[in-house]
Amino acid sequence: MKKDFITLADFTGGQLQALIDQTISEKPAYLKKQGPAPHARKTLAMIFEKPSLRTRVSFETAMTQLGGTATYLDQIAIGLGTREPAKDVARVLGRMCDAIMARTFRHDIVEELAQYSDVPVVNGLTDYSHPCQAMADLVTIREHHGELKGKTIVFVGDGNNVARSLSVGCAKLDMKFILSCPPGYELDETFFDALLDEHPQSDCSVIHEPGRAVASADVVYTDTWISMGQEDQRQDRIRTFQAYQVNEALMALAPKHAIVLHCLPAYRGCEISEGVFEKNADAIFDQAENRLHFQRTLLNVLLTRGGIA
Ligand code: CP
Ligand code: NVA
Repeated sequence: MKKDFITLADFTGGQLQALIDQTISEKPAYLKKQGPAPHARKTLAMIFEKPSLRTRVSFETAMTQLGGTATYLDQIAIGLGTREPAKDVARVLGRMCDAIMARTFRHDIVEELAQYSDVPVVNGLTDYSHPCQAMADLVTIREHHGELKGKTIVFVGDGNNVARSLSVGCAKLDMKFILSCPPGYELDETFFDALLDEHPQSDCSVIHEPGRAVASADVVYTDTWISMGQEDQRQDRIRTFQAYQVNEALMALAPKHAIVLHCLPAYRGCEISEGVFEKNADAIFDQAENRLHFQRTLLNVLLTRGGIA
């Protein structure tokens, strides 16, 4: 049993598939405001060292729909690691709350929260990974393309936290993952090697030339060129990534059926053009909405069973 949801690497393909299936089957009842609310009196503590729209609202709404409540804790208020060590914050919240969600810069801080709290800890984005986003993305791809197995995600842009979580999800679920990034912005070699070691059948690769990369895409995915915490690299990154904009010219080289996804927030004129964004807005906002549906299912499982078996 895994108490926490910190990285997709901790789970089998079967466990991830079951969470995706459960999300899709539970979603219609909640859309009709008729889903069960079995977690009255339970509380989720939400720690944010970085800004958020989707993660905050989706976790808070998910807890409300499940019958519980969520408490927003920002870094200025609680001083995680400055006013108080993470291991003490974890033990206090573990005594008062039923689960913890944390968005931090350093990934090891979320791991430390998980180690010291008795309640489930969910990763709401670190510099290293964004597993809830990747799961919501996989739910969206299932809904749009009917199945996941054999589908190809081409991630155009930075080899960042979102790309890393998606690559693991693809390796676990028999999907193909291609990262198209400028040289020097790949996922770190040790991570990629470990992924290929653990999943020798997986099909994860890097194709630097974006036009060649998207030729076999079922999904063209992009994200900001400047993740939270990288603001000091802004000018360099904008120059370096110019050829990696997902725009009409690039999409003309992708198969007609390919959809474009973006985890948001989107920077039009940088990683995506206004036209491509708006043409794919239905899929992109389905993807944002699916954060709520996936995380409600995840919280329900964690709060009911104390972890993922
Ligand atoms: N995609 C995502 O995590 O959005 P927020 O940063 O607004 O939470
Ligand atoms: N890669 C982005 C994702 C935002 C949801 C970041 O870390 O800022």
